[in-house]
Amino acid sequence: MDRIAIIGGNPLSGEIPISGAKNSAIKLMAASLLTEAPLRLTNMPRLADTRFLGKLLRRLGSQVIELDGPEGAETILHTPEIVSALAPYDLVRQMRASFNVLGPLIARTGHAKVSLPGGCTIGARPVDLHLKALEALGATIDLNEGYVYAQAPRGLKGAEIEFPFVSVGATEHTLLAAVLAQGTSVLRNAAREPEIIDLCDCLRAMGAKITGDGTDVIEVTGVARLTGAVHAVTPDRIETGAFACAAAMAGGDVTLTRTRPEFVQTLLDKMVEAGVSISVDGTAIRIVRGAERLRAVDIETQPYPGFATDLQAPFMALMTMAEGESVVRETIFENRFMHVPELSRLGADISVHGGEARVRGVEGLNGAQVMATDLRASISLVIAGLAAKGETVVNRVYHLDRGFERLEAKLGACGADVRRIKTGELEEVDA
Ligand code: UD1
Repeated sequence: MDRIAIIGGNPLSGEIPISGAKNSAIKLMAASLLTEAPLRLTNMPRLADTRFLGKLLRRLGSQVIELDGPEGAETILHTPEIVSALAPYDLVRQMRASFNVLGPLIARTGHAKVSLPGGCTIGARPVDLHLKALEALGATIDLNEGYVYAQAPRGLKGAEIEFPFVSVGATEHTLLAAVLAQGTSVLRNAAREPEIIDLCDCLRAMGAKITGDGTDVIEVTGVARLTGAVHAVTPDRIETGAFACAAAMAGGDVTLTRTRPEFVQTLLDKMVEAGVSISVDGTAIRIVRGAERLRAVDIETQPYPGFATDLQAPFMALMTMAEGESVVRETIFENRFMHVPELSRLGADISVHGGEARVRGVEGLNGAQVMATDLRASISLVIAGLAAKGETVVNRVYHLDRGFERLEAKLGACGADVRRIKTGELEEVDA
């Protein structure tokens, strides 16, 4: 397995272009199953997760064509016919969001057999809300041997669905089914994340009738069929936020381009409070930090537009060297502090009590071997490594490859000393 080695201490300077959002791209790819016409997605990130999903979609009958368009990577997804409505365990297990093919499969064919995604390293992550919503839309759901068997032979029917709490995945999944249901659906307490709006924009371009996305009540009037469309994937707010933290941690002068600054406003406010200088110009964010120490700031994760749970680990890395004590509360996922013991290996002083971590800023970190445990934890280790003395080696880099496109190239172009150690080279390193 590849590793990433970082020699800390270089300030960063330059531009980092932000890619299309992973969390949008995978739901948009699932949406392509809803039509027999081609869906062309531009500004596509090329990631392990999009590759996994492409593999599953091909199994279901899609042609998945990746090409380089005039404005970067594109994917054309074309499913003239669903040849199989089975999403097997080995593919869903590799990438949770594959589960989201369930809704489109029932909506288009009236039946589906999809593996449950199983647990994951950031807690239980159930899918009960997804299944309840599909049942409300008229699907019969049976669970057997780790699979969901869903049937709606006479099609889905619009329904009123009130989510007991905000779930991005369940909101998206319900949308992916309700667009082809007969009649109107109303989704209450819906998630308001930018990826929801992106999905609705794409579905509307395909002919869906949706209003209210971006608020907590979304109304969908089902249509008999959807058409093809061309849609540009929205910029990745998590990549934006992670690189903003990286730039602030290393110090220097970095501009993030091709992004949507408003998507990370809550993070930027916290960074300013900590003493980072930030300016926004259209689709660019400039982050400047000199030699002065940052101040400790508290955060609490919340659904959008609150502080994103995916940016909790990167922000915690930034706080490890701030002056004072920072309290980090995680309210979305249990067990999302797996990065804490690894940051501690670099010399961070952090204690965890339930859903709360206390980070007492230290004056310096020291490079060490660390282990990536999940995607967002992994980037926090890279961020810490940028400021640590000596070499930090992040093991199990496949987590990073799931969500960060050309990470070493993007950071390296700004002067970071980051290199990938390929599996073949590992014996030398281990020796
Ligand atoms: C979550 C984040 C999203 C982030 C993504 C990737 C929130 C609200 N969502 O989305 O911003 O991009 O992770 O890391 O911050 N839940 C249930 N039953 C369900 C579905 C969810 O109990 O059927 C619970 C989850 O365990 C969690 C909460 O609801 O505690 C929110 O989960 P959800 O938004 O669905 O997770 P993701 O879609 O993965």
